[in-house]
Amino acid sequence: MKIRPRRLRLSENIRSMVRENALSVKDFVYPLFVVPGEHIKEEIESMPNVYHLSVDEAVKVAKEAESLGIPALEIFGLPEYKDEIGSSAWDMESPVQRAITAIKNAAPNLVLIGDVCLCQYTTHGHCGKLCGDYVDNDATLALLAKVAVSQAKAGADIIAPSDMMDGRVAAIRSALDAENFANVSIMSYAVKYASAYYGPFRDAANSAPQFGNRKQYQMDPANAREALKETALDIEEGADIIMVKPALSYLDIVSKVRENINLPLAVYNVSGEYAMVKAAAKNGWIDEKRIVLESLLSMKRAGADIIITYHALDAAKWLNE
Ligand code: PBG
Ligand code: ZN
Repeated sequence: MKIRPRRLRLSENIRSMVRENALSVKDFVYPLFVVPGEHIKEEIESMPNVYHLSVDEAVKVAKEAESLGIPALEIFGLPEYKDEIGSSAWDMESPVQRAITAIKNAAPNLVLIGDVCLCQYTTHGHCGKLCGDYVDNDATLALLAKVAVSQAKAGADIIAPSDMMDGRVAAIRSALDAENFANVSIMSYAVKYASAYYGPFRDAANSAPQFGNRKQYQMDPANAREALKETALDIEEGADIIMVKPALSYLDIVSKVRENINLPLAVYNVSGEYAMVKAAAKNGWIDEKRIVLESLLSMKRAGADIIITYHALDAAKWLNE
């Protein structure tokens, strides 16, 4: 036989010479959930080994992530109070803002990403300001810009809007620039689907909508072309990094977006994807380490540069072994 692909699979060394993609600790962003209080580290039931952390405990986890070589954290928070417009989202005393400042002081080299949305902070659990039962797009933009500026003031390096309002990247960019935060980047959740895979996160962040769903602002899972439309808009508005979310069921989208843009591309390996792997692993049905590393590698192969994942600490340990 003239052509035998198996020749290049004969040993680990030859396989490593022809390997096309690799996973690195430097690909990872580790999400944290910060809560009010002190000395709190409570496991989230549907997300084993992921915790609600008070700011002091979040600093410890941040240092652990840094010592493993993880370059970045994304900070989510549960506020002390909620109201109709989500005003605790831009309160400098809220857990997210305090955590960003505390982690920046303790680990100045870590890249800190602030998630900008209102659903954790509104009584109704929607990602924007309501007008009746409708999320009012344009009235929400100014609020999102306030959240972004407050996180930048706290010390965030990157702002990551996850609300899916039209025009929010432009609104956030001009607010940041007006407040002298020209060097704060925007990582846009440009392609975010209305997905059932966010279930465990909504329990963890206490952010489920109290009526209806998010289908009027998040994307229809049936749509692929629309991902390019959303991406083009956010790039035009000034996004520095584009994100596709969720990851595993949307690798076709990741690949398509990768082929069409020249910006860095992030994927969010979301809570439901994590919970499924953890549940199967707990039952002894799968080999957790191999499944996790293979899944994360598939995101790289599809074209992701950055992987936001709750597996980051474990995967970093495995890659460092
Ligand atoms: C808030 C937000 C969500 C996630 C990240 N930011 C939930 C949602 O849109 O309902 C999901 C993350 C995950 O599932 O891990 N808008
Ligand atoms: Zn939201």
